[in-house]
Amino acid sequence: MYRAREDASRRRFLAYLAGSPLLAMQDGVITDVKDALNVMDFEAAARKAIPPAHFGYLATGVDDDSTLKANREGWSHIKLRPRRLIDVSKVDMSVEVFGTKWETPIVMCPVSGQRAFHEEGELAVARAGKQKKTLQILSTFTSTSVEDVSAAAGRPVWYQLYTTTSLAVAERLVMRAEAAGCPVLALTVDLPAGRNTETQKRMRLLDKRPCMACHAPSFEVSRFRRPMFEGLDVKGLEPYNPALTWDFVDRLKKMTKMKLVVKGIVTREDARLCREHGVDGIVVSNHGGRAEESLRATVESLPEVLDGAGAGIPVLVDGGIRRGTDVFKALALGARAACIGRPYVWGLGAFGQAGVERVLEMLRGEFELAMKQCGTTSVEQIGRAYVTGT
Ligand SMILES: Cc1cc2nc3c(=O)[nH]c(=O)nc-3n(C[C@H](O)[C@H](O)[C@H](O)COP(=O)(O)O)c2cc1C
Repeated sequence: MYRAREDASRRRFLAYLAGSPLLAMQDGVITDVKDALNVMDFEAAARKAIPPAHFGYLATGVDDDSTLKANREGWSHIKLRPRRLIDVSKVDMSVEVFGTKWETPIVMCPVSGQRAFHEEGELAVARAGKQKKTLQILSTFTSTSVEDVSAAAGRPVWYQLYTTTSLAVAERLVMRAEAAGCPVLALTVDLPAGRNTETQKRMRLLDKRPCMACHAPSFEVSRFRRPMFEGLDVKGLEPYNPALTWDFVDRLKKMTKMKLVVKGIVTREDARLCREHGVDGIVVSNHGGRAEESLRATVESLPEVLDGAGAGIPVLVDGGIRRGTDVFKALALGARAACIGRPYVWGLGAFGQAGVERVLEMLRGEFELAMKQCGTTSVEQIGRAYVTGT
C-alpha cells in the first residue's frame, strides 16, 4: 500500500519534471529551439550536436582568433542615439537589393559543406530562408547542388565563387550558376593563400572518428567531389588562386550577365578599384576572422569602404553580427544589408531547419525592436545620426 503510493507520487514527480523548464536545459545548454533567448544560445547547442572536428571548422579563426574576436567586439564600440516620441507602432524592415525586395536586411553568408553540420545541410537552410523570406548565398563548396538548393529556396540563390586555380573550371562554375538562374555572383577574394586555423586543428585532435569516413581519400580531394565539381577536370586543382588579379574581375564582367559582387573588401583603395572595374556590389568581410589575422573588425573597415565605393554601389557587411542592434548599426553606418555566417549554422547544427528559422526570427525581432527604440519606421531612415562612437 505504502509502496503503491510512493510509486504514484514518483510518477507524478517525473511527469512534472518532463513538462518543466528544468529539463529543457542540460548543463546550461538548450535542448529545444523554443528555449533560446538569443542566437548565442545556439552555439553551445551546436557544439554539443556537431562532432568536434566539424565544430572546430565552424568555430575557428586564424592564429590567435583575435580578428574573429575583434569582429564581435567592434560592434560594441558603436553606440545608439535613440529618438523619442515618434509613432513606431508600425515599422517596415524591408530592403531592396538589385531590384529584389527582402523582408529584412539580414542575409545568410556562404558557408561551405553544410552537411558537415546537419544531414540536411544547405537544403534545410534554403527551406528556412524560404519560410523567413531571407536571402541565402551559396558557397562554391556547397554539399548540395545550386539547382537543388534553389528549388528548395523557391527561387535561385546567390552563388559565391572561389575561382580555384583553374580559370576554365571557374568559368564552368559561373555558367552553371547562371543557367540555374542565380541573379548575383559573389566573388570571394580574401583567401589568396593558405591560412593558419589553429582552433580547427586543436579540435580535430578531440575527435575520435576517423577523418577518412567523411573525407576519403583526403579533405583536399573530397572538396572537389562535391556537387558543383561533377564532370569537371579537378586534377591537381587548388581551391584558392594566389594569381588572381583585377583582370579576372574584368573577365567575369564580360563572362556573365549576373550582377557581380566582390566579397572580402576591407580598404578604401580596393573599394575604389571595385568601382573602376564595374563591380555591382561589395561585401565588407574578413571571412569571419578566418582569412588574415589583421586584428581589424569589419565594422571599422565599413566607413572607408563606403567612401571608396561611392554612391550607387550597395555595400553589405559581415563579421560578428549577433544581435539586432548590430544589424541596425551596420545600416546606420551605411551598409545596405548585414550578413551572418556562424549564427545560422549554429541553428542548423543544433536543430536543423527549425534552428535556422529561429535564429532568423530572433535577429529579425531584435532588429525590429532596435528600429522602434531608435524611432525609425523604415530602413531608409536609419542613418549616421542614430549612432555614435565611430
Ligand atoms: C565554416 C565556415 C565556412 C565558410 N565558407 C565560406 C565559403 O565557402 N565562401 C565564402 O565566401 N565565405 C565563407 N565563409 C565566410 C562567411 O561567408 C562569412 O564571411 C563569415 O562567416 C561572417 O562572419 P560570422 O561567422 O562572424 O558571421 C565561411 C565561414 C565559416 C564560419
